Amino acid sequence: MQVVRTVAEFREARRRLPAPVGFFPTLGYMHEGHISLVERARRECASVVASIFVNPTQFGPNEDFSRYPRDEARDLAMLEGAGVDLVILPSVEEMYPAGDVTRVRVPGLSEVLEGKRRPGHFEGVTTVVAKLFGITEADFAYFGQKDAQQLLIIERMVRDLHMPVTVVRCPTVREADGLACSSRNVYLSPEERAQAVALWAGLRAAEAACGAGERDTDRLRAVCREQIEARPLASIDYLSLADEQTLEELHGLVERPALMSLMVSFGNTHLIDNITLHP
Ligand code: PAJ
Repeated sequence: MQVVRTVAEFREARRRLPAPVGFFPTLGYMHEGHISLVERARRECASVVASIFVNPTQFGPNEDFSRYPRDEARDLAMLEGAGVDLVILPSVEEMYPAGDVTRVRVPGLSEVLEGKRRPGHFEGVTTVVAKLFGITEADFAYFGQKDAQQLLIIERMVRDLHMPVTVVRCPTVREADGLACSSRNVYLSPEERAQAVALWAGLRAAEAACGAGERDTDRLRAVCREQIEARPLASIDYLSLADEQTLEELHGLVERPALMSLMVSFGNTHLIDNITLHP
């Protein structure tokens, strides 16, 4: 596995890689969910490239940019173990050189749910992902459904800008109790960690209710909310049942597959999760 830190070195190494090239971008502090994306890329592509970059523009002023967990040596060992060919770890100055002003914005989709709680977050994501697509010139790019809104926004950006890359959706990987793997899970105290199963419990309860014939959107949201409220350390930032494509909040009855998504806080730690309900 070749490790580089500049765009010029990346381009030089990239030229020698056989097509198709699969790309996995991450903020780092990797876990099993990340590795499942890399393994999928490895199975489907002749070459696999990755980036590790804690992107400052997607963190708000009061968010965890400076304390976001980092472990470069461990991440590199995991990427190498999963068969990555080439990885770039750019500096902030390399990704945002002096005078950098261009931003990529996907209005609408970026302003609801997580985007409403984190103003500017998705503009930071789309901007850095557009830069990374330009650098890597990948044929396929792998993203996790755990960040369903991010995935939708990136798919829209790729479509609207005719970017020559195919976005691949990958299923959410979970811990044994159902908590979605996340780099931020390390922030949880043991008590919070035990109660963090609330998110999956809520989503599963709504899925079960839907499976049993419940179609009322308020009832489905309430079934999920009850599970969260049963855990005293959990507080709901948002709980949404929305159109899978437009993310418009649904009212009345669900008639098509719909995205139930939520953000739940434990102290200063914000966790997200989602499920698709199939009425
Ligand atoms: P990061 O949080 O490091 O996630 C990297 C990729 O791993 C994303 O596509 C995310 O959806 C996926 N992922 C995270 N947890 C997962 C899980 N439990 N199961 C399956 N996939 C999971 O998302 C980002 O980084 C950044 O916003 C990025 C796209 C790299 C832009 O900076």
